[in-house]
Amino acid sequence: METAKANVLITGSKGQLGTELRKRLGGKEGIFYTDREELDITDEQAVKSYITNNQIDLVINCAAYTAVDRAEDEPALADAINHLGAKYLAKYGRNIIHISTDYVFDGTNHLPYKSEDRTNPVSVYGSTKLAGEQAVLAEAQTGLIIRTAWVYAAEGRNFVRTMLRLGKEREKLTVVADQVGSPTHAGDLAQAIIELLPQIKSGTKVLYHYTNEGVCSWYDFATAIMEESGLGCQIEPIETWQYPTKARRPAYSVLNKTGIKQDFNLTIRHWREALRDCIREIQAKAEEKKQMEEKEQEKQTKEAGQ
Ligand SMILES: NC(=O)c1ccc[n+]([C@@H]2O[C@H](COP(=O)([O-])OP(=O)(O)OC[C@H]3O[C@@H](n4cnc5c(N)ncnc54)[C@H](OP(=O)(O)O)[C@@H]3O)[C@@H](O)[C@H]2O)c1
Repeated sequence: METAKANVLITGSKGQLGTELRKRLGGKEGIFYTDREELDITDEQAVKSYITNNQIDLVINCAAYTAVDRAEDEPALADAINHLGAKYLAKYGRNIIHISTDYVFDGTNHLPYKSEDRTNPVSVYGSTKLAGEQAVLAEAQTGLIIRTAWVYAAEGRNFVRTMLRLGKEREKLTVVADQVGSPTHAGDLAQAIIELLPQIKSGTKVLYHYTNEGVCSWYDFATAIMEESGLGCQIEPIETWQYPTKARRPAYSVLNKTGIKQDFNLTIRHWREALRDCIREIQAKAEEKKQMEEKEQEKQTKEAGQ
């Protein structure tokens, strides 16, 4: 697709992936960033008007209902965002990159899931995301779906930030060791999307998988987070039944990424390396904040003394 001069709409631009895309694309001409307030993707008329008025050529849909457990109690809202919202964007945008999830699978595989493998979601979140994929493939002229997994970034709600917070508060944490997958740095996914953008073939509808390289359990992931951040919190492995959650999650959701790597000549780094970078970024931000607070404190003390 000719994307150099295209008008591109990025929905959900304040989420993890949206933020990472904005960091890399910045104020480039023709890029329209919207959050829920500017464009609620569940409002069909609003989607139609926005796309028409701004002559959008391509949509990158980063908006989603991502609260996996809460979705069990709010299936209609999760469906409106993950399914219908995606459908409207594909219908009016015509050309779309849509993000989906490893949770469309039931986790009974023992080998990495290929994009054409049978889907069988075991949660409301997974079912609504699958319905979104199907609607995008049905409605779009050019549709590229990227399933990803275990997404984290230096900002936003995610496992890495939760573990860092808990790791400072507690000496010991228990984390499930019998759910296996591959973490994904939202920044790496954003970079991959930018690299593949100019290579998309008009009129194709394709489903790809993207995560960082490597495989781990949540327990391994948490252990690595403590090691990389230098926190002394001890991580102990438990089984899923010992940590009951509203939504069921697949026990194994490693994704086979051969398609995206071959078709777009992508090199993907190992999750551990990406995690290291993210933790450095979080630590640098925390240090910067601390220094600013100290300066502010000094200023106030000086002013009080005058
Ligand atoms: N996070 C993961 O672990 C994970 C795993 C696998 C796949 N994925 C997929 O990856 C994609 C990006 O995920 P992410 O982690 O970046 O998600 P995120 O951080 O939760 O961001 C989603 C964004 O969508 C916005 N949004 C929600 N409802 C909306 C609506 N009706 N209209 C417009 N915007 C709306 C949210 O705004 P509010 O904050 O206002 O709600 C939020 O800014 C999603 O498709 C997700 O399903 C994520």
